[in-house]
Amino acid sequence: MALLEIDDLHLAMRSFEGEAHVLAGVNLTIERGEIWGLVGETGCGKSLTGLSVSRLVPSPPGRYLKGAIRFDGQDLLGCDETAMRRLRGRRIGMIFQDPTTNLNPAFRIVDQMVDVALHAASTDPSVLGLPAGAGRGERRAAARRHAQAMLERVGIRDAAQRLDDYPHQFSGGMRQRVLIAMALIGRPDLLIADEPTTALDVSVQAQILRLLYGLVQEDGLTVLMITHNLGVVAQLCSHVAVMYAGTVVEAGPVRDVFKAPGHPYTRALLAAVPSAATPRGALRGLAGVVPNLLHPPAGCRFASRCAAVMPTCFAAPPPAVPVGEGRTVACLLAQPAEA
Ligand SMILES: Nc1ncnc2c1ncn2[C@@H]1O[C@H](COP(=O)(O)OP(=O)(O)O)[C@@H](O)[C@H]1O
Ligand SMILES: [Mg+2]
Repeated sequence: MALLEIDDLHLAMRSFEGEAHVLAGVNLTIERGEIWGLVGETGCGKSLTGLSVSRLVPSPPGRYLKGAIRFDGQDLLGCDETAMRRLRGRRIGMIFQDPTTNLNPAFRIVDQMVDVALHAASTDPSVLGLPAGAGRGERRAAARRHAQAMLERVGIRDAAQRLDDYPHQFSGGMRQRVLIAMALIGRPDLLIADEPTTALDVSVQAQILRLLYGLVQEDGLTVLMITHNLGVVAQLCSHVAVMYAGTVVEAGPVRDVFKAPGHPYTRALLAAVPSAATPRGALRGLAGVVPNLLHPPAGCRFASRCAAVMPTCFAAPPPAVPVGEGRTVACLLAQPAEA
């Protein structure tokens, strides 16, 4: 059974302008141990996909029109808040873009980490290595020890002292390390990281990515990494899903997709990445804009910008076609793999 299965997910978001169909048939299957990169231009629905898995899309304005999300076989859209709380921080860990919005400036690091650890231990005492009947004091002491060990793992020196500091006493990169430690404190099966390095300096970005990669390898974590950076995907991920305007247009193993992209949008994205070999002036951007999702087109959402567009593309959304080992492409031009 796949660890995470997003099946034909449709989400609408209401705003004062009307209801936008922001996710329009997202499909994604993640097996244990896979590291997925979810890429695409800003506004294509990457964050809402990640937030949907943790059931953190507020409703209203969000409304699921169709589809399912299954985590280890459990139907998440059918879960109530109590059941989701049990999963979050324990089986599903999350890291978000901006380290300043995630740590509460009013509380010491230790209080925030111990909170998360105790919460995780309340559903599974083994998280803290404690027997089921452990008392309150014993649990708090174990949570503090675990918090310190996690800070050490993410490379924070003098962790025992730093635990008692407030978030503002840490640099941006250090705060992001603390957030990674917090996301992993409950020993999750799935880690969702939404642009975890975008707010950081380039040199710090590289350190954080290296750290994440090491931790993921050590723990055999399954990851959904949201990023608009294809270089990050190439370095870190085993698989990639390319999103455009609320749909997954292409998915598969990173090496195969990057070597021979099957969707015109994937090709355009890859062509827009500069390399040392790119001649000056040869960098190709993608003309046009993402369609207005208040009134989305009836057919392929990429059609109006596509270099290979045909009249039939405007009729109906193209189905995702299996094009090879673990690969799909949602394009009328995709050649189905021989069965
Ligand atoms: N709270 C919200 N209310 C209304 N629309 C939203 C809200 N959050 C996101 N959206 C819209 O949903 C679309 C997808 O957003 P998002 O998932 O954040 O994109 P990405 O992470 O790929 O940049 C965007 O068009 C955005 O404007
Ligand atoms: Mg986002």
